[in-house]
Amino acid sequence: MKDRLEALAKHAREEITAAQDAERVEALRVKYLGRKGELSAALGGMGKLSPDERRALGEVANRVKAEVEQLLAAAVARVEDTRLEAELRGPKVDVTLPGRAQVLGKRHPVSRTLEDIVRVFSRMGFDVASGPELELDYFNFEALNIPKDHPARDMQDTFYVDASWLAAPPPSPVLLRTHTSPVQIRTMLGRRPPVRIVAPGRVYRRDSDLTHTPMFHQVEGLWVDKGVTFAELKGTLDAFVRAFFGEQTRTRFRPSFFPFTEPSAEVDISCVICRGKGCRVCKGGGWLEVLGAGMVHPNVFTAVGYDPAEVTGYAFGLGVERIAMLRFRIDDLRLMFENDVRMIEQL
Ligand code: FA5
Repeated sequence: MKDRLEALAKHAREEITAAQDAERVEALRVKYLGRKGELSAALGGMGKLSPDERRALGEVANRVKAEVEQLLAAAVARVEDTRLEAELRGPKVDVTLPGRAQVLGKRHPVSRTLEDIVRVFSRMGFDVASGPELELDYFNFEALNIPKDHPARDMQDTFYVDASWLAAPPPSPVLLRTHTSPVQIRTMLGRRPPVRIVAPGRVYRRDSDLTHTPMFHQVEGLWVDKGVTFAELKGTLDAFVRAFFGEQTRTRFRPSFFPFTEPSAEVDISCVICRGKGCRVCKGGGWLEVLGAGMVHPNVFTAVGYDPAEVTGYAFGLGVERIAMLRFRIDDLRLMFENDVRMIEQL
């Protein structure tokens, strides 16, 4: 048996040092050291030996096994070196291939519009404020003087969020904010007048058609101080529209209703596509609705601890996608969110 082991070692030495690639080295590992390999086979009849013979043979077997392992490790290193050398010597760059075009990212039209809107108001002296998209019913509705039975609170319009699993139950129901107006409340609770902010962000409603998507963007505006008037609201929005769409663009204020402003208005701009003559985008009317606005309701001031006898203010909420549609002349709002790069590349 000892001779058989020595013969195995000699044979292994020859074969392993001759191996040329990693597959062959691995095959030899299995051949010699595998469970059904030659070393196991050579030790097959060991059970029949006396304890002394077994010990002597064990020593030889261990020495052979250690040697074969060492040979295999050296072979692995050697074939890997050879492979790397061949790779370095071989062709690296085929300079005759045509170059690959770099695909450049582009900013989404909604992001660009949002930033441009904020930039115009920043120049007029507005700070930028923000609030959470996951909001409490209290900030989204209650503090904004939106009564319990107001249709906007309906499950049809609002995405409510299950918060029952929280260890500490929230003080009012949790929802995805339906407008950026709760930022008015959060901002006023945090500071004293004068307050002059714009708050851009995402809002959510259970809507989906040509001009409505379940997620869209608004920019909220709020100016509170002693003696702020509706005339200033008109002047500010007028200046914004002219800065954004050009000097020739006109605005029109229509009486409207929001629970958190009184009086309230919806603001239209003269259609930037047909310049008021009437077209498909303005549905022939020559005007397009882009925002809601009004004078902050006294109940809202009371909710944040401001004295309505002392301060007045105005607020507005712009629909960013509507403005982006006008600016980029897109007539289906849903195109904005299908993420088709061809659309973004055209703009
Ligand atoms: C509001 O959300 C009020 N918070 C605005 C406001 C703020 C009024 C401050 C007074 C004072 P409204 O629901 O009308 O109002 O939405 C405002 C604008 O968001 C709309 O003029 C429209 O441009 C846009 N908008 C509304 N729903 C959608 C929708 N599903 N998809 C895209 N844009 C929408």
